[in-house]
Amino acid sequence: MGRIPQEVIDRILDRLDIVEVVSGYIQLKKTGRNFKANCPFHNEKTPSFVVSPDKQIYHCFGCGAGGNVINFVMKYESMDFPEAVEVLAARSGVDLPKYKKNTGEGSSLSAGLYEINKIAALFYQNSLRGEKGKKPFEYLKKRGIDTGTLDEFRIGYAPAGWETFRKYCEAKNIPADVLRKAGLTVPGEKGRGDYDRFRNRITFPIFNERGHIVAFGGRVMDDSLPKYINSPETAIYTKGNVLYGLNFSRKSIRETGSAVIVEGYMDVIIPFQRGITNIVAASGTALTQGQISMLRKYTNTAVMVFDADKAGESASLRGLDILVENGMDIRIATLPEGEDPDSFVRKNGKESFENIVNAAKGLFDYKLDILIERSGIRDIGGIVDEMLPTISKVGSAVIQSDYLKRLAERLGIHEASLRYEMGKVRPDYSYRYASESNVDRKSRNYRSSEIHLLGLAILGRDKFFRIQDELRLDMFRDRSVRKIIRLLGDLFNGGEKDINPGKLLSRLEKDEDAKTAVVQALAKMEITQDVDKALDDCIFCIRRENREDELKELTSRLKEAQQSNNNTEMRELLTRINMIHKEKVA
Ligand code: UTP
Ligand code: MN
Repeated sequence: MGRIPQEVIDRILDRLDIVEVVSGYIQLKKTGRNFKANCPFHNEKTPSFVVSPDKQIYHCFGCGAGGNVINFVMKYESMDFPEAVEVLAARSGVDLPKYKKNTGEGSSLSAGLYEINKIAALFYQNSLRGEKGKKPFEYLKKRGIDTGTLDEFRIGYAPAGWETFRKYCEAKNIPADVLRKAGLTVPGEKGRGDYDRFRNRITFPIFNERGHIVAFGGRVMDDSLPKYINSPETAIYTKGNVLYGLNFSRKSIRETGSAVIVEGYMDVIIPFQRGITNIVAASGTALTQGQISMLRKYTNTAVMVFDADKAGESASLRGLDILVENGMDIRIATLPEGEDPDSFVRKNGKESFENIVNAAKGLFDYKLDILIERSGIRDIGGIVDEMLPTISKVGSAVIQSDYLKRLAERLGIHEASLRYEMGKVRPDYSYRYASESNVDRKSRNYRSSEIHLLGLAILGRDKFFRIQDELRLDMFRDRSVRKIIRLLGDLFNGGEKDINPGKLLSRLEKDEDAKTAVVQALAKMEITQDVDKALDDCIFCIRRENREDELKELTSRLKEAQQSNNNTEMRELLTRINMIHKEKVA
């Protein structure tokens, strides 16, 4: 499965100090035992972001973000777990053996498909450099692609015959069904053999985020149609889940903090060659949720570059709302009539393109300008109908309010009436409220006493053993709390003296609920003055709450027993109810 062993993670956590690591990213100020800062994960004026050197965790009282040093780096750098561990391993000098990442690339069908795509890409690349590749090579040169770029993007040429690639594979004993499953061949009709999907076309391998080839696009070299054919969806390729170029550009996107989104293969390749390296293509369709989620790991700022003729289409306007909904800060740049990024960069160079990107308008202004241009200011109703859904999806109430004010001004109407209309728009929770404060939403479901007690249990073995003596595991209502208490039990009973909360978190792996519980619990400890009193109170509360739950349950069963005249059951229930009442007084 390729997981990084817990002991390796522990070793990394042992060697690192969260305060030191976090200080590398943001400025921390010492207050008492802890360090404070303005939270890097949400906007705020007064610091509610706390880093605790004792516990080796961070937590924000404002937005609920929290975790250990690995979680911090993951979140701050938009990395996944293995990536963050890799960075921190290097930093702490822990040797990280190569563990195969668990990306589904391990399954044997997938592995076979990745492998055959690699073979195909190489075959096409070689054919581009061969005798038959002269014409396509000329074509690509004419389109301004350097040989270095040809190699980097692994561009090739699929020969004109019907079975060139299939025969090549046959000779290498590659099973026909693998080729078919990879979409490289198409089953022949009426008992005829399979034939090559890509024939007499320039081939563009489509890479996944990690740089493995998942599909191909093939372009004709003249004006015939279809201009491009693409691989069908396969076990390793889902159309809406790939951003062309992301494997090349993700580093630069992360570094520059923003992405340029274009439409086609060539619109990535040519600007990239000229040094615009934070660029990806949606490949001719509207951005999907999957593509946005992928991009969001690297940045939440993007500039969409539209051709002039595409710009005004309602469909492309609506397609933009999904970006706003996902918390993306999205701007739109428009190219002159008849140009796409490829042709524009070739004609005008890198700087002119950058100027256009830098001059991109915010979505609000862009949309409003287009709508007004299209229908004139008279169609106020229509404009309002198009604008309000967009505005309602903006996460920040302040920005929303500003947009409403500006919309009212532009249209010469009262803000109050806009606000009234806005009330009718379905209150779509924006990304921010839907997912970042997941934490808050979940915490409401926890019994506060349980969470508080959990914090106390993490403090040390004395506290934990007291809890163990006084409460049974089944008295905790929350699944995650039970899980953590059990885990603590294993650790303390196994002789562990102190629990490093950072390590505790790493033991909970992907159980987000449990991790949230730990972070919430530790946060409660930050505001706990008298630990012993808190312990008494929590134990008392949990007992009482359990008694009340039990009473409720028994009472309802008593009612049923009464209705069915079940006297034995009634007597038994009454005895138990009385016992609970006595316990209460005791
Ligand atoms: P365009 O028609 O704008 O082509 O399609 P392009 O990228 O400018 O290509 P060149 O410059 O003529 O070589 C934009 C993108 O839409 C997808 C491709 O991903 C293409 O890059 N597309 C287009 C297809 O998948 N099939 C098609 O037939 C056309
Ligand atoms: Mn083009």
